[in-house]
Amino acid sequence: MIDIHSHILPGIDDGPARMDETLEMARAYEQAGFHVVIATPHHVPGTSWNPAPETVQSLVSHVNRILVHEGMRLRLLPGMEVGLDLDLARMLSKKALLTLGGTQYVLVETPFQRLPLNWEQMVFDLTAAGFAVVWAHPERCRQLQNNPAPMARMLQMGCFLQINWGSILGYNGGHVEKSAKRMLQKGWVHCLATDCHDAVSRTPAIGMDGMRILEEILDPEAVGVVAHENPVRILQSKPLTPVMPVVKPKKESGMRRLFSWKR
Ligand SMILES: [Fe+2]
Repeated sequence: MIDIHSHILPGIDDGPARMDETLEMARAYEQAGFHVVIATPHHVPGTSWNPAPETVQSLVSHVNRILVHEGMRLRLLPGMEVGLDLDLARMLSKKALLTLGGTQYVLVETPFQRLPLNWEQMVFDLTAAGFAVVWAHPERCRQLQNNPAPMARMLQMGCFLQINWGSILGYNGGHVEKSAKRMLQKGWVHCLATDCHDAVSRTPAIGMDGMRILEEILDPEAVGVVAHENPVRILQSKPLTPVMPVVKPKKESGMRRLFSWKR
């Protein structure tokens, strides 16, 4: 499996502070069945989270050398999770920011409260400059939970939507879980990612745990598209495969119903 969204690099954002924690995450990734991880540290203009591309690239190379030395199969690729900014397209064009694994896909962090009023202009600028926008965890945005219309607009504008494995597991609260599952049923989700930050709570294992929930919502072909095929297509710079809306939601298992009711 490929993870397109991960805070695995040490000492660069709110991910692991030290290399030993990074290696612990790498082991957890391997146990969960991942073989490629795009390291996507936060890049938020005007904050201390604004690593230079060279810093991310050299950290990725450093971690990869250690992974080889440790006899591990997992490999990292460089990327960033970039904050919304009017300067994004220009910064990406002059290579002052990183795309996902050097492709045209850009992982854009969806704000947790509200989208800026001029978000459509930013998407337009990015698209005009030849980039494809992948919105990270839109299901966690309060505005979009209450009104999904802007997500429909994102799709209309050619954007792609990535939800977190942890969201469908309910780790980010009931509203987020409901929003993520609704998006899956509407056929709006292009891929899932861990967005993991450590090896304990926001861990790579959520990819395995989340698969069971995903299989309750989508048919096997659609599960394959959002969990496996589209992350590969991102790395190959190919257009992503859309998923059809779920016509008749699958019946939840008894245990699952009981679990949801308890929350
Ligand atoms: Fe993230």
